[in-house]
Order: sequence, then structure tokens, then C-alpha cells
Amino acid sequence: MTIAIDGYSSCGKSTLAKALAKELSYVYVDSGAMYRAVTYYFLKHDVAIHSEKEVDLALDKITIDFANIKGKNICFLNNENVENEIRSMRISNNVSEVAAIGKVREKLVKLQRQIARNSSIVMDGRDIGTVVFPNADIKFFVTADKTIRAERRYNELIENGKEVTLREVQQNLEHRDKVDTTRAISPLKKADDAIEIDNTHLNREDQLKLALSYITQFQKHC
Ligand code: DC
Repeated sequence: MTIAIDGYSSCGKSTLAKALAKELSYVYVDSGAMYRAVTYYFLKHDVAIHSEKEVDLALDKITIDFANIKGKNICFLNNENVENEIRSMRISNNVSEVAAIGKVREKLVKLQRQIARNSSIVMDGRDIGTVVFPNADIKFFVTADKTIRAERRYNELIENGKEVTLREVQQNLEHRDKVDTTRAISPLKKADDAIEIDNTHLNREDQLKLALSYITQFQKHC
């Protein structure tokens, strides 16, 4: 069983994906973390993102894994726990440009499909229902009002001890929305058969209940 969840930055898709995975005992895969980990590596090693040769060489040196530690999904880059580093504003400000590179997407999509081979999964991202798993059993496209998204993201970053202003977060979301929806390869868009969930006025529990009701409906028809 594959559940694909796509949507704009900070729209609540990973909250939904994690809750669904927990409820259904599926594996949760955060595809955004993979693009963030590659961005972290590129910045750390001064990889010139417009040089195909440098990008290729760097990608060959990268491994990405996940582990569930104390109930938290942790991303490892070359066996190093980078979960905290990849959530910084520096990474958020550079990740969309890295995610627009064809070779980067090729490598990560391959990895995403490999992870899904042996388990039931919930994966969230931007191209999961359109490109990675066009035949996913259920696809959700999550949306929320722009102001609400920025506020939620800002509060989350502050709670995690990050120094950031609401304006910075708003600008970052606007920038990422623009780059992610207009890039040439696999731009963010709603799959034709995706169920849209607008969570502007929903709390986490209501969003989960709504998604679960669609899944139950789907399972009844199987
Ligand atoms: O889900 P996130 O905000 O952590 O994702 C970070 C960036 O990675 C996002 O701005 C676009 C990119 N991304 C992507 O292009 N495709 C995916 N499947 C997931 C994320």
C-alpha cells in the first residue's frame, strides 16, 4: 500500500503523513529531508550547482538513510545524523535550487522507489503522486492559507530553538512555492486523481480523521 502526499511548503503534509503512518503502522518517508540532506552536503563541500561534473561527483559520494529513534524520524547523510542541520533556514533558502537539478532528482527518486519496494509507506513531498508513485493507492494534495502556513512554520522553528523572523519565513515560503511550482523537471502540481485537503481551518486531529475516512472508503472498494 502506498500513500502519496504532496503540497506546498509547510502546509501540514508531513504532520499528516507522520500521523497516518503511525495510525496504520506504515513506514513514513520524508522525501523533502532527502533534498535537504543533498543541499547540506553541497553547501558544506562548496559544490557548484551549475557544474554538471561537480554535481555528479558529489552525488556519487552521498548516501541517505532514515532511522526511527525514540519515535522520531531521523535523516542520516553518509551515516551522520543531520536531522537538526537540515532544518536550518540556510538549507531552506537553498534547497529549491538544488531540488530543481535533474541529476539530483534522478538519484533521489530512485532511492524513494527502493525504500517503498518492501513496505507499505506514506511518503510526502512535491512530486510523489505525479512522478515517484503515479500508481499510488491513495494520493492527497494538502493545501492551507499562506498566512497560516507561515505562522505555523515560524512557531515550529521558534519551538525548536531556531532564530528566525516571521518575515524571513514568509519570504522563504514564497520563494520555495515559486521555484518548486515553476521548475522544468517534476514541478509541484496536484495529480489529477489526488484528493485535496485544505487544512486552513482544521486542527491536526480533524485532518487525520478526514484523511482516514478517505482511506477507509478506498479500502471498502478494494
Ligand atoms: O518538504 P520540505 O519542505 O522539507 O522540502 C524541502 C524542499 O525539497 C522543497 O522546497 C522542494 C524540495 N522537494 C522536492 O522538490 N520534491 C520532493 N518530493 C520533496 C521536496
